[in-house]
Parts: sequence; structure tokens; C-alpha cells
Amino acid sequence: MARINCIGILTSGGDSPGMNAAIRAVTRSAICNGFSVKGIYRGFDGLVNGDVKEFTTESVSNIISRGGTILKSARSKAFMTPEGRKQAYETMQREGIDALVVIGGNGSLTGARVFGEEYDVPCIGLPGTIDNDLYGTDLTIGYDTTLNTIMECVDKIRDTANSHERIFFVEVMGRDAGFLAQNSAIACGAEAAIIPEDDTDADQLEHFIGRGIRKSKNSSIVIVSESPKCGAMYYAERVKKEYPQYDVRVSILGHLQRGGSPSARDRILASRLGAGAIDAILAGQRNVMIGIQNDQVVYVPFTEAVHSEKVLNKRLIKVLDELSI
Ligand code: F6P
Repeated sequence: MARINCIGILTSGGDSPGMNAAIRAVTRSAICNGFSVKGIYRGFDGLVNGDVKEFTTESVSNIISRGGTILKSARSKAFMTPEGRKQAYETMQREGIDALVVIGGNGSLTGARVFGEEYDVPCIGLPGTIDNDLYGTDLTIGYDTTLNTIMECVDKIRDTANSHERIFFVEVMGRDAGFLAQNSAIACGAEAAIIPEDDTDADQLEHFIGRGIRKSKNSSIVIVSESPKCGAMYYAERVKKEYPQYDVRVSILGHLQRGGSPSARDRILASRLGAGAIDAILAGQRNVMIGIQNDQVVYVPFTEAVHSEKVLNKRLIKVLDELSI
């Protein structure tokens, strides 16, 4: 295997709080272990276009507490094409980058997998997404901070919901996964969560209403996973039509969920994963995502991380049901 001298690092896809902590950890751990580091800007687009800068330990000073990503992020269309990936490889050769660390979610690690298979480039992935939907790691970078952000917002919504005796449908992110919705619902004492994983045939709204909406309470909060067809608006409209006695409001939290200073848990996770990426390179690993399972750093082949389904613990659904009576 060719000797690795220089490691390139990029962030790709939706940004998540803790990405900066991961960039810092990869950079400093790499330098500690004798590698040089190059920051690649705007995700894979930066690799295609040669948007690359030499990184020193100072390049990552004072960023551990900052949300977003100093490297910027993008969902690169060019990199999805063979021509784009060829250009990316040429950039690596020109810049002397021998290995890549890619921080991102499903789409980003898929890009890294394809690139690592097509060219002789060791690629290491770090799970960076608020959605927590990557298989092989208990948590993804950003998920904990977002959960806390949602909790703070919903606590505030509860005040006004109580005052006006209303039902609120609060829509949260998660793409196709309900980790954020289900766990924030438990954390906020919400009355229900509507999530994609609840695959019983029962209508989740009927279930919520059937359990005695607002029987003993003067407000209700239902956390709804984002969905192109049946998000919070859909359920609110249905309640307005089918149960006009209730006063209904909708709150779509949107992109504020992705911002903000990372929680201690995310900073520590990102730091351990970043250092783990360099350990993996030193151990000759390639095409793996670094994860943490039961407090142990693990190497998860890209194909598994991306294609296997991370299952939401169905017991969480029962816990919420039982605690929201
Ligand atoms: O994957 C992270 C995520 O925030 C999802 O939860 C959401 O569906 C999507 O990205 C939103 O993407 P964009 O920022 O492109 O609107």
C-alpha cells in the first residue's frame, strides 16, 4: 500500500453541530501522528474544483464550540458523475493528498464508498448528521445537540399551548428516520410522536385521539417527523376537519434544529471519532466509517453503514405511550 503522508478532510451533506469538533480532532490527531493535513472546502465540490488549503493546528483553534462547519458543506452533483470523480482524483494527485476523511451522512459516505472503490484512495468516514440514521454507531455527530435544541423549543411551545389550551403539531427533521421525533417527544413529555418507523396499520392520529386527547390535560403536543406527504400540516388539517372542537396550531422547527453550539456529548463524540479516524488510517483501514458502539470505537464497512437499516427501538414507542397518559 502506498505510504500516506497527507490527509484531506471535508464535510459534506447537511451540516451538524460537532462537525467543527471533528475537523479539529482529525487535524490535531493527524499532525500529532506525523501527517500533514489539507482542508477541502464545500464538500466533494472542493475536491472536484481544487478548493483546498493547507491546515495547521492553528487552523482549527477555537472551533470546538462552534456550530456549522468551517469547511462549508455541499451536496455535490459533480461528484456523482464519473467525470467529476476523475477531476477529484486529479486534485488529490496535484495536492499530494493520499487519504480522505469524509464527515457526513448517508449520501456523503456513499460518495466516499464509490470513490474509494473506483480509485486507489483510502477513505475513512465519520458519521455526521443530526438524523442519527447511520447503522453501526450508537450516535451520530450532531444528533444530541439537535435533540436538546428541539427540547428547548418544545418546552417553550408548551407554555403557550397550556395558556391557550391548544393542540400543537410540532414538525421536526430526521429525513426518513424518527429518532429525533420519538426521543424528543419522550424528553419533552409530549402526548404523542408520529414517526415513519411506527409501521402498524393503525392510523397514528386515530391512535392519539383514541387514547383520549386532552382528557386530563389542558394542552397536547404531538411531535411529527418531517414527511413530504404527511407532516405536521397534514395532521393539523385533519384534526381541524374531523375534530373541530379542538384549537390546533402547527410549528415547523426547520433549520434552527441544525445550528448552535454543540453539546458536550457531541463534542466528545466528535473528538473520539476524529482521533479514531487517524488510528484507523495508521492501522491500514480503508473504506470504513468510524462508529462508537457501547463506548467502544468500531470500524464499520461503508456498505454496512449506508445500506443496513438502523432500527429504532420499538420499546421507545411504548414508553412514550405509557408516560403520556
Ligand atoms: O440530513 C439532515 C437534514 O437536516 C434532514 O433532517 C433534512 O431532511 C435535510 O437535511 C434538509 O436538507 P436541506 O438543508 O438541504 O434542506
